[in-house]
Formats: sequence, structure tokens, C-alpha cells
Amino acid sequence: MTNEPTSFSAESYFATQPPPATLDHDIAGVRSFVARQQAAGRKVVLVTSGGTTVPLELNVVRFLDNFSAGTRGATSAEYFLKAGYAVLFMHRQFSLQPFSRHYSHSTNPFLDLLDIDKSTTSSSQDPQIGVTPEKRAHLLQVLTAYKQVQAAGTLHTLTFVTVNDYLWLLRAVSQELSVLNRKAMYYLAAAVSDFFLPRQKMSEHKIQSGKGSLHIEMDQVPKILKPMVDEWTRNGYIVSFKLETDQALLIPKARASIERYGHQVVIGNDLNRRKFEVVFVSRKNLTGASSEGRDNGFEENWLRIDLSTDHEKEIEEDIVKELVKRHGDWTCVDSE
Ligand code: PMT
Repeated sequence: MTNEPTSFSAESYFATQPPPATLDHDIAGVRSFVARQQAAGRKVVLVTSGGTTVPLELNVVRFLDNFSAGTRGATSAEYFLKAGYAVLFMHRQFSLQPFSRHYSHSTNPFLDLLDIDKSTTSSSQDPQIGVTPEKRAHLLQVLTAYKQVQAAGTLHTLTFVTVNDYLWLLRAVSQELSVLNRKAMYYLAAAVSDFFLPRQKMSEHKIQSGKGSLHIEMDQVPKILKPMVDEWTRNGYIVSFKLETDQALLIPKARASIERYGHQVVIGNDLNRRKFEVVFVSRKNLTGASSEGRDNGFEENWLRIDLSTDHEKEIEEDIVKELVKRHGDWTCVDSE
């Protein structure tokens, strides 16, 4: 399977890789959602969430995947909704979603929420099912917030599976959202594959194991933050994430990303510390926030929570609070 690698720009990528079959339908839904939110005067945030896959065959049997469960994106979406934003939630199929994430099958199985009323099992009437008493208060809280969002129509969900689905959707959704100008925020928390197999190099059928070991040379996924900043979004507030496993790389890589793409904020997170510590990296003059580290025109603000004393706290609450403030400052510039 070894082939010469191709260097894809965003332009050559979209010229050679086919769009997902549902793209037009998905975008029609986004367009009417955005129009409704614009009419209501709401700010809208696009939240991308979960990992993208890289199929190895056209008739897919095998694919590469990554670790992301979509916790960051699903949790943040809830806090954005609470802050009054409308949310376009673009997530990996079957990854966590706002509200239902509280009842994920692995951490809080749905059946554990329910109880059978024993007094009804022996009688002739149908056994009654109710909510386990100790789970009731939390369920009521989640359900109330969910119903409010449903009634307000402020959450719109889109799904992707492959990195190709993700790139096509991201471009089209960003272009739709750009009509909101500074009122749009882009919160790119998805874990996007860095390498892929172009369609032209994929095996049509299942790769056979008869030839021994497998050698695959993958091409680099184009860096789409550049066209996103320069072409697809108009004055939108763009927040990307930088994931590293070596803590020492976080700040230099985040700075390099801002330098290269020119967007507003990079949130750096270490794989093993991401639930309780993140760092906001931005240009010095873009926020009025006080900063701990300042160097070469950049500033860094660390957000930390103490999980030993604050078990219930989710760091996304603080991330979103800080971003809502920064985005507010950013939108004010428009009216000055
Ligand atoms: O879902 P969880 O389990 O809660 O984990 C959350 C997370 C660790 C995945 C999340 O907080 C995070 O760090 N997401 C970004 C991981 C990543 O893909 O980083 P990157 O350096 O490859 O990409 C930088 C940014 O550009 C990201 O915002 C990414 O969404 C975006 N990107 C990257 C490449 C590409 N071709 N297109 C992109 O949009």
C-alpha cells in the first residue's frame, strides 16, 4: 500500500476528496437554525466534539480512531446554553452529547435510574416504574435544563464520523455561521486526525492479511485553521485546542498556532491533566484579563480546579465563563 505522499492544501483537498452524501441536507438545517438565532439576536457558538476516524478501505472494515469521548465538547455546550448562547453541536456519532452525557452507559447507566415499585408487583395491576429516589434531584435538574433548551430551540446537532466528513462540514457550517459576524464563536474541541488516506489511494475491498505485515503511508490532513480564519469566517471569534502529552510543549505549540493562523485563543491541555487544568494562550492586546505569564506579545492564563475539594466542579464551567467574557469584549469592538 505504499504510495508517494501528496501534499494537500485545503483547496486541493476539497477539489479531490468527495463531500459526504448528507452535506446539503445538513447545511439546509444549519441555515434555518442560524436564521432563527439571528432573528432572536442570539450569539451562536459552533462546538466541535469527539474524535474523527480515518478509514483504511472504501468498503470500511478497518479504521484508525482516537481517544476522545467528547466530554469537553458536550460539557462546554451545556455551559454555553446556560450562558444564553445558541449552540451548533457538531460531534462524532455516538460520542457524548449535552444533557444525555450525564447518563452515559459506562459511568451512570440508564437502568440504574429506575426502580420498580414493589407494592405493585404482587397486585393484579401492571408493575409501576419510577425514578430511584437518590437519583431524582439530579435527574430533575438535567431534565429541566434539557426541556428548556428544547422549547427555546437553541441546540442544533450535527454528526460526523470520518475526518473527511468533519472537514467538509466544518467548512460549510463556518461559512453559514459567518453571516453573524462577531456574534459567532467557533470552539474547536474535536480531536482531529492529523493523517489520512486519500480516497484515490484506498483499497476498494477489505485489506487481505495473506501478504504478512501491513505498510501504510498516510498523507497529512491540511491545516484548515488558516482558511477558516482568512476565508470561511468573517470576524468570528475562534478558539482552538492544543492537546499534548508533554506539558513542556503546550505553550510553545499554542503560541506557534496563534502566530501561524492569527485566531483569538488557543486553549492548551495536557492529556492527563485536562480535567482540572488548562491554559488560555492569546495575543496580549486581545483581552483585558489579568495574566500570569507574558512574553513576546503573548499572554497565558491558567485555569485550575482542585478536584480533591471540589468533586462536582467541571472545568468547562470556568472555560466557558472566561470565553463568554472575552467574546463579549470582542463583540463590543464592533460597536465602537
Ligand atoms: O473529548 P475529551 O475526551 O473530553 O477530550 C478533549 C480533547 C483533549 C480532545 C480537547 O480538549 C482537545 O484538546 N481537542 C483538540 C485536539 C487536537 O486535535 O489538537 P490538534 O493540535 O491536532 O488541533 C488543533 C486545533 O485545530 C483543534 O482545535 C482541532 O479541532 C483543529 N483542527 C486540527 C487539524 C485539522 N485538520 N483541522 C482542525 O480543525
